[in-house]
Amino acid sequence: MIILGIETSCDETSIAVVRDGKEVLCNIIASTKDVFADSGGVIPEDAARRQVELVLPVLHSAIAESGVSFTDIDAIAVTKGPGLMGSLLVGVMTARTLSAVHQIPLIGVHHTLGHLSSLWLEQDTAPTFPCLTLSVSGGHSDLWLRTSHTQGSRIGSTRDDAAGEAFDKGAAMLGLPYPGGPSISKAAESGNATAYTFPIGLSKEKTCDFSFSGLKNALRLAVQKSPSPTDTLQSDLAASYQEAICTQLCARVEYALTLHPEVKEVHVAGGVSANSRLRTMLSECVQPRTVRTPKTIAYCTDNAAMIAAAGFFLFSEKPEEATKEFITSTSIPLEGVFA
Ligand code: KG4
Ligand code: ZN
Repeated sequence: MIILGIETSCDETSIAVVRDGKEVLCNIIASTKDVFADSGGVIPEDAARRQVELVLPVLHSAIAESGVSFTDIDAIAVTKGPGLMGSLLVGVMTARTLSAVHQIPLIGVHHTLGHLSSLWLEQDTAPTFPCLTLSVSGGHSDLWLRTSHTQGSRIGSTRDDAAGEAFDKGAAMLGLPYPGGPSISKAAESGNATAYTFPIGLSKEKTCDFSFSGLKNALRLAVQKSPSPTDTLQSDLAASYQEAICTQLCARVEYALTLHPEVKEVHVAGGVSANSRLRTMLSECVQPRTVRTPKTIAYCTDNAAMIAAAGFFLFSEKPEEATKEFITSTSIPLEGVFA
């Protein structure tokens, strides 16, 4: 089954063609992150305007690169939410138009299911259930226990900021460019992660939830004490801050595994899964299990291949629900992930 995926929930315009949820024929991503490097985050109206400019050139590139024609495409999968409304609508209107013109079934996909499905793209060995997925991005941070693509439950989530948001806000405080994850990670390379002792959110609770607001405030106070930090100080703060985020994420995964020893695989998905320190720490804490990460960095951050994969799995496991009418929404309840 060949699926055309469309993802425009934020500041990436991405269109992909994927066969059977795993073989990526093309995955075109036009990112406008650079535009927002100095603004500390995405400006929604600007992001939507750029989606409008980019969506058709990206579509034409995707069709040309994949070598398929619309008669080969069995379904179109599009992110229905959550995300920025203006950005989402560009993708959804494009998908609805293509579906109507070419008479191809349309599948609305929850953005989070896309991230959960990214682990199946181009893997050397197929993932197995039950799996525990740490899904960490700029918009959400959740722990999922899943027994199939469309069955499972969220066993933990953030009580305030998402992990990626903590990276982005931390970077803004440190004077580092958006997106904060890559810039903190780069600054941390030359820093000392034990230079500062930052609080680990919810460390006294037995919980699978996350919290980053205390950590964020601790960084704000540390920055206030050194308003014009040297490069060394900035690197030390970045390294210590990154360490505190990763330590919390690993602690929750470890705790979840004590509650669910039946878990065969641990997955990490979403933009923060690109973080190399997190990958190293996770692979140590889930022993003797291994951590499965998306095959490439492009499948960690927002991309349309993961939306096409999710569309395939939804269609395979729940064909009627997959193609039912859907609305575009900035906040779809997480219960709507599997339908
Ligand atoms: O999944 P994603 O592309 O978009 C959302 O769904 O939000 O995630 C973007 C987030 C941003 O907050 C960004 O700072 C973070 O992922 N991120 C990283 C890294 N690369 C991207 N965080 C930590 N380390 C990275 N290398
Ligand atoms: Zn995302």
